[in-house]
Amino acid sequence: MDTTTLKVLVERAEKSKIGQVDFNNLSFGNVFTDHMLVCDYRNGVWETPKVMPYQPISLEPSAKIFHYGQSIFEGMKAYKDADGATWLFRPLENQKRLNISAHRMAIPELPEEYFMEGLKALLRTDEQWIPTSEGSSLYIRPFMLASGTGFHASPANEFKFIIACAPSGSYFSGKVKVLIEEKYSRSANGGVGYAKAGGNYAGQFYPTQLANEKGYQQVIWTDDNNHEYIEEAGAMNIFIRINDTLITGPTSDRILDGITRKSILEIAKDEGIPVEVRKITVSEVVEASKNGTLKEMFGAGTAAVVSPISSFGYRDADYDLPELENSYASRLKKRITDIQYNKAEDKFGWRYKV
Ligand code: PLP
Ligand code: COI
Repeated sequence: MDTTTLKVLVERAEKSKIGQVDFNNLSFGNVFTDHMLVCDYRNGVWETPKVMPYQPISLEPSAKIFHYGQSIFEGMKAYKDADGATWLFRPLENQKRLNISAHRMAIPELPEEYFMEGLKALLRTDEQWIPTSEGSSLYIRPFMLASGTGFHASPANEFKFIIACAPSGSYFSGKVKVLIEEKYSRSANGGVGYAKAGGNYAGQFYPTQLANEKGYQQVIWTDDNNHEYIEEAGAMNIFIRINDTLITGPTSDRILDGITRKSILEIAKDEGIPVEVRKITVSEVVEASKNGTLKEMFGAGTAAVVSPISSFGYRDADYDLPELENSYASRLKKRITDIQYNKAEDKFGWRYKV
């Protein structure tokens, strides 16, 4: 039963752009649906959320987002099943994490019903944009930004919460090569690494560009202290398989607490895979690669889903991963996507019908 009292306003676009989109050749996050959700925070309250035609937003040059980067975001997906029903995956985890990020970045938290009712109203309005082709989904980007003005370096007093959506295919094309970084850092103890703050990503662009020039798609970040431990990648958490054991680092205030990561951990345990959540050193991974016990590395995230890593670079050497039949990555990817697309039983209760 729907008990909410919040009414989301809906203003429909006069014309749809959907005819211009090739749903069989979708890249990631490059075309946007007909509508967006906008909710303003003014005078200490979140105002009524509104679904409106996707369009540019107007901000003053003195809006604090431009000067102090007070902004956060989330990443989610909507999936269509074979009967045309729409599903989300653990959406309340995104809602909670948005507020964890908001708290850290001195942005007012958004009540759960604004997030959920706004999201559902938007998805119902743009329902025909949810792709049905294999491996595609509607990528959903909820975000908040400081729209309030002033050059004083202090939190804004006005904010916008917006959700925009993009029908999308895979995040990576081809094999994923990663570079283990030991000069630059993504985050530090006491910093904002655990928040999905826009600046965390801007700070990665330059070191990632350097890695891209050498042929790597992503950087694997190590701890800022001694660059000794594997932390996470630019857009995903990292799993490492040594012999039969699947290992991932513990979350901390430097690492994003990925929803895919924690789901994969539960599925792996359910599959009977030995799992360890513990710190893992770069030297342990290099050594395991040299002695043949390193079997797999993969990334896990909403955009990345489960992305096998084909090789990693470290200190001017490249280390190839073996290509395995029936890898953990392929088993775990199938289990999680079968739940997401409503192809299999969801014993964990993660699927959410829109
Ligand atoms: N780590 C970073 C830095 C990310 O940007 C993401 C993507 O959201 C993840 C990990 C994976 O998180 P999730 O599985 O919640 O998408
Ligand atoms: C996601 O996986 O949803 C993310 O936010 C990662 C992003 C950098 C594309």
